[in-house]
Amino acid sequence: MEPARRQLTRLFSDVFTAKGFDAKLGSVSVSDRPDLAQFQCNGALAGAKSLKRNPRELATEIIGAVEALASQRFPLNDRPNDQLKDATAKPFTLSIAGPGFINIVLHDELLVQFVRGQAADKARLGCEPTASPRTVVIDYGGPNVAKGMHVGHLRSSIIGDSIVRIYRFMGDKVIGDNHVGDWGTQMGMLICQLREKQPQLPYFDPGFSGTYPSESPVTLPDLEVMYPAASKRYETDETFKAEVLRATDELQSGRRGYKALWQHFVNVTVSDLTRDYEKLGIKFDYWLGESFYEERMPALVERLKASGLTEMSEGALIIPLANEQEPEMPPLILVKSGGGFLYHTSDLATCEYRVEHFKADLALAVVDARQTMHFKQVFKAARLTGLTGKCEFVHLPFGTMNGTDGKPFKTRAGGVLKLKDLIQMVNDEAKKRLGELAVDRPYSPEELEEIASKVGVATLKYADLKHNRSADYVFDLEKFAKFEGHTGPYLLYATVRIKSILRKALSQGLSAGKIIAPTRESERRLMLEMQRLADVLTMTYNEREPHHLCEYGFNVSQAFNTFYTDCHILRETDPDRQASWLALATLAHDHLEFALGLLGISVPDRM
Ligand code: ARG
Repeated sequence: MEPARRQLTRLFSDVFTAKGFDAKLGSVSVSDRPDLAQFQCNGALAGAKSLKRNPRELATEIIGAVEALASQRFPLNDRPNDQLKDATAKPFTLSIAGPGFINIVLHDELLVQFVRGQAADKARLGCEPTASPRTVVIDYGGPNVAKGMHVGHLRSSIIGDSIVRIYRFMGDKVIGDNHVGDWGTQMGMLICQLREKQPQLPYFDPGFSGTYPSESPVTLPDLEVMYPAASKRYETDETFKAEVLRATDELQSGRRGYKALWQHFVNVTVSDLTRDYEKLGIKFDYWLGESFYEERMPALVERLKASGLTEMSEGALIIPLANEQEPEMPPLILVKSGGGFLYHTSDLATCEYRVEHFKADLALAVVDARQTMHFKQVFKAARLTGLTGKCEFVHLPFGTMNGTDGKPFKTRAGGVLKLKDLIQMVNDEAKKRLGELAVDRPYSPEELEEIASKVGVATLKYADLKHNRSADYVFDLEKFAKFEGHTGPYLLYATVRIKSILRKALSQGLSAGKIIAPTRESERRLMLEMQRLADVLTMTYNEREPHHLCEYGFNVSQAFNTFYTDCHILRETDPDRQASWLALATLAHDHLEFALGLLGISVPDRM
């Protein structure tokens, strides 16, 4: 069953259209005064203004017309005899407020139909899949070999993973791709750095024709020391820089020993990254890093040259992008002066591959807002050159995760925070806080570890997802690890608490039954919150903004808490009411677990 707001919007829009107005005026929203109404429609105001009529008069007319259609559109059919005595009852009451707003309050019997529909649909809770599923490539993660994953990559991974889950649930064919940075100058730096320390290794001997060792000569911690040292020298030492550029060139033109060494660097990094991702519950379908496109780039460049859209400029081959609408847009650089491909080139090849190979209808790149210009250029060039075909390319930017000092998040000692340390930090915090909490304790040390890791991941992910995607935000561990407030641990706690209530009920021989019309406001509010789910999910999907789901989960938790304090489920003496309350509690639990699931957050059994 479609959520109430959407059905009401349709009804009101039909009425407005029939009266010669724009259908948009029929838009119904959740009331911003829940004490007065559940929903509202403000269209009569704009409608009256356009005709210079009295808005309250028009509102009265609209109400009359809506009421004439109401019972036929919303039959109160599913009525147990003892529930709905009044056969003339209307599905909702309408009233005029202020200058001409129309307030809407659903009849309890109608409200209950919405939640019953959700309860009967365990798998989807009443959320329909999209009517026109697409093939969608989602580019997220994108850490760089040897540089370690920083918080920007973490945000991309967390937001991207949630968007993957949401799109999949909506019925799209989703391809999740981790576009690892594994091909740039940093590779030349590592090669030169290692050559100085261990020149005897066979990788550096051009005459070597045997098989290279299968064991990597370096570990990830080695690379993490080597990279910053090399990158510092690269900036200051001209000879070193020239060597690095030559080594990068040689690698890219296929020098055997360098290729083998490069493969070690990649393997060492990727296996470590995979472990980190495992801890976060994040999986990719593909890891097609920049290097994957190396083979495709020369042919692509040749084709583009032939198309006549390229130009030479200061020794570089470019695609000019400035036009009347965007006179300032810098060109895309296909081949740099002196030869060699760039980040622009590999991303253009990536666009082509996503269209050609994956047949994508939509390609989303979940990447830091600082790369906005890069993607604008690449997508524009792809469109101009016809590489995009019918595929829509969209950059989904996100803001920076800052520390409480307002600067990009660092360790206490001031260094760039490694993901591993961050995970450790949130887990430790979770463990500490769990000690202060008692729902189902005591638990074994292993169980404590497992719960703490789930709470830790929830802390991290929820903090990242609850904010408007494009906003910078301050990661305040103290605040985000709390079990109260708008936090991941709070939502987990709320969900686990319902689980524990349901377990207790079961042990007392009680079970859920048919949901009946609410008699208390707290019950009504919980139902009203929950019937919105499909509406919230559609909004999340259309806007690609998981924070709507976070708010939704938070609201349901709050509404459940009020309901639970008000309605003493386990002590209720009316068995039908008790069974209905248990069904509501079960539904609230399912809603929370569902919303958290789409955020990539898993719920422990106990806490
Ligand atoms: N490796 C890049 C970075 O760290 C992110 C890759 C994003 N994806 C892409 N197709 N460019 O900035």
